[in-house]
Amino acid sequence: SFKLGVEVLAAVRLEILKEDIKTRARLGRLHTPHGMIETPVFMPVGTQATVKSMTPEELEEIGAGIILSNTYHLFLRPGPELIRAAGGLHSFMHWGGAILTDSGGFQVFSLGDLRRISEEGVEFRSHLDGSRQFLSPEIATEVQMVLGSDIVMAFDECAPYPCSHEYARDSSARTTRWAARCKETLGVSAGQALFGIVQGGTFKDLRRESAAGITALDLPGYAVGGLSVGEPKEVMYEILDDTVPLLPADRPRYLMGVGSPDALIEGVMRGIDMFDCVLPTRIARNGTALTRFGKLVVRNATVARDFSPIDPTCDCYTCRHYSRAYVRHLLKADEILGLRLMTIHNLRFLQNLMREIREAIAAERLPAYRREFFVGYGYPL
Ligand code: GUN
Ligand code: ZN
Repeated sequence: SFKLGVEVLAAVRLEILKEDIKTRARLGRLHTPHGMIETPVFMPVGTQATVKSMTPEELEEIGAGIILSNTYHLFLRPGPELIRAAGGLHSFMHWGGAILTDSGGFQVFSLGDLRRISEEGVEFRSHLDGSRQFLSPEIATEVQMVLGSDIVMAFDECAPYPCSHEYARDSSARTTRWAARCKETLGVSAGQALFGIVQGGTFKDLRRESAAGITALDLPGYAVGGLSVGEPKEVMYEILDDTVPLLPADRPRYLMGVGSPDALIEGVMRGIDMFDCVLPTRIARNGTALTRFGKLVVRNATVARDFSPIDPTCDCYTCRHYSRAYVRHLLKADEILGLRLMTIHNLRFLQNLMREIREAIAAERLPAYRREFFVGYGYPL
């Protein structure tokens, strides 16, 4: 066919600045229609078109350039038609940074009730009102097209842990067929990039099969799904050791649902560029802070008269202005500000961790950084 001398610019592209020699870590820049994001990156979770209790201005101050939102939740409420009427998700929620939307392929299984999976899609009952709902690769992709997310995730099935080889095989093969239908549905929708998701449970042969099938679709990015679902961390690291090298080096690699400090460092060392997790925001709201010296239960009586900041090494708004004793008081008194201050701190903590990881890659001292961080945090080496 006749070829125009014009290159179609990809909606999302990873510019790799450096590949570590000692580990599989990469330093890069993720270019999106809503800005450039330095990688490796942690994406805060904004399930219902909000990172709980944070304004977009606060997210920006924390240093977030990309957030994750959920197709499953927005599909059920307020529904794609309302977000279309608002001019898309960025406009609806007043967020100028990049947005990645998960496809619903995980939430349908974790939140939906009475699921029935067929080749066509998944029938389930809404966790909100019990109404009968249906999501398919086509519907999940169309909803994400309406949302206008920069990164659209393929509709997948995340197999439970543990599960049989046979179950994981059928489900991950179906996930690959579904990804092809997502690609077909998105078409050349300008400005939106589809990421495929590798599944296969904890079975290396199935992971390899899945990686081969998904990468054959030549997508702008790839995720590793089906991990951090209850398996031991060592198992997750082994799967990453085995799977990540099968993904093309010039595309972003995203490890879904991982956000504990140790797993972020281990993931980066195995070649992951992007992460998301509810962990920092969720534990913030039950009163647990991430600090350089490990987790701090701010609700504990031991900090009742502690007028030091949550983490004396932290530069966040909370640590610059408030004491542990004050934040504890707010949490005990059920004051909204307590949740907000805790969330600001935990998100900033992870942004700083990722910045230090990037600096360590640049300085070719990531393994040393890992040891130092683990010692301070109290993780076994
Ligand atoms: N979030 C965490 N794990 C997964 C997964 O396997 N699939 C999807 N779609 N989202 C996830
Ligand atoms: Zn702080």
